[in-house]
Amino acid sequence: MNNTANAPRVPKRVAAVILNSLKGGVVPRIGLPYITVGREAEIRALLTDLSLIADGGASFRFLVGRYGAGKSFLLQTIRTHAMGENFVVADADLSPERRLQGGQGQGLATYRELIRNLSTKTRPEGGALTLILDRWVASTQSPASADPAGARAAEEEQLEMHLAPLEELVHGFDFTRMLRRYRTASLEGDDETKSLVIKWLRGEYRTKSEARAELSTTTIIGDDDWYDYVKLFAQFLTGAGYKGLLVLIDELVNLFKIPNAITRQYNYEKILTMYNDTLQGKAHHLGVIMGGTPQSIEDRRRGVFSYEALRSRLTQGHFAREGMRDMLAPIIHLHPLTYEELLVLIEKLQQIHAGYYGYSARLTEANLVDFLKIEFGRVGADTHLTPREVIRDFIELLDIAYQNPDADIAALLHDVGGTQAACGNGDSATSGPSTTTVALGSAPRNPTDFAEFTL
Ligand SMILES: Nc1ncnc2c1ncn2[C@@H]1O[C@H](COP(=O)(O)OP(=O)(O)OP(=O)(O)O)[C@@H](O)[C@H]1O
Ligand SMILES: [Mg+2]
Repeated sequence: MNNTANAPRVPKRVAAVILNSLKGGVVPRIGLPYITVGREAEIRALLTDLSLIADGGASFRFLVGRYGAGKSFLLQTIRTHAMGENFVVADADLSPERRLQGGQGQGLATYRELIRNLSTKTRPEGGALTLILDRWVASTQSPASADPAGARAAEEEQLEMHLAPLEELVHGFDFTRMLRRYRTASLEGDDETKSLVIKWLRGEYRTKSEARAELSTTTIIGDDDWYDYVKLFAQFLTGAGYKGLLVLIDELVNLFKIPNAITRQYNYEKILTMYNDTLQGKAHHLGVIMGGTPQSIEDRRRGVFSYEALRSRLTQGHFAREGMRDMLAPIIHLHPLTYEELLVLIEKLQQIHAGYYGYSARLTEANLVDFLKIEFGRVGADTHLTPREVIRDFIELLDIAYQNPDADIAALLHDVGGTQAACGNGDSATSGPSTTTVALGSAPRNPTDFAEFTL
């Protein structure tokens, strides 16, 4: 292979995660830089947003691409990057139970998920809220001094300076009151109050009376105002030593799937609020990226574009076209990985696989090209083959080749390619006459994933 010699060595633990995740059709949580291909322009654009956020601004983007185009991969890439740069990241996948707004607490459920998933460089797997608060409390304390009273006064002044701007925001008083209580409880070693405040900040109080009994407050974070608290968090975080907050919301298609038109509109209205806030300078140190399929955004009947105020703001102008994309526009279109990019990717995967199992790579460049030809040569591949299936098939091929060291690669390729193409159609539980459009030989997926094709 052409770049075998200088292929980076991937730690075994990371290689295992990469291979397992990809074989299972999901984006690995770690090790992305070892396999990333393409997306330079997109990554550059999102990194520009990060510096804007660090400077006190706000940004809002949609990542739009077909199933398997790489939206979640890019979100994960930028997530890792942001944490490394000292941002706090919160991510959530929407679902029928998690929306932006909903009569039964579906908006609040998204907020809770975001807060649960708060991640930082030192806590990349989520659950960083306590760590962040403790860091903040520590930063508000001055070192021991000969004049304790004077030091305390200085601390108070410092604290006021930090919290005053937050108080100007909607719900700022409630939020800062809770921060103060957390701080006092921390300094007094009162763990019980600390955990009650945490419960409040996580949006876990269901009723006002519960909050009144436990915390003597009558405000709780609710379905209609959770986003105000996201803004408060974003601004608060800089005081705790972070550059800002990046919120990642994936699977926007779940809003598209809401059956009730009014409920859908309420959800899109929420997006409009967030979008306007970022443009009008009402949010600070906050970035929002939402991932969705083209249909979930552009469909005029049920997608984001069914909400006229959003459609008129978001539609592409008349100048952008293929090969001349506008990376400053709020919508970033992800083209599926090209043939060439996939070739680079499977080369990398072969190196990782060989490194992990400790053998020397056997597939020649011609084999790799053959493999892609077989994949793309299948019925319907031009419209329905996604990188996910290609990658999964390839790792399967590597696994089989590894377990059968004497097998002839070319024959194996045709066997694997041939039988999968044949049985992929029949075996897949989701493929019936009306849904043969789904990707061939795909891993078990939730049938609702295919709403794009069946609705
Ligand atoms: N730039 C890339 N470099 C390497 N691998 C990638 C890249 N983009 C995507 N992949 C891989 O392709 C597969 C599909 O990507 P991903 O899951 O991000 O797609 P998606 O657009 O989120 O799909 P869905 O709409 O089904 O959620 C994954 O296995 C992912 O790891
Ligand atoms: Mg995805």
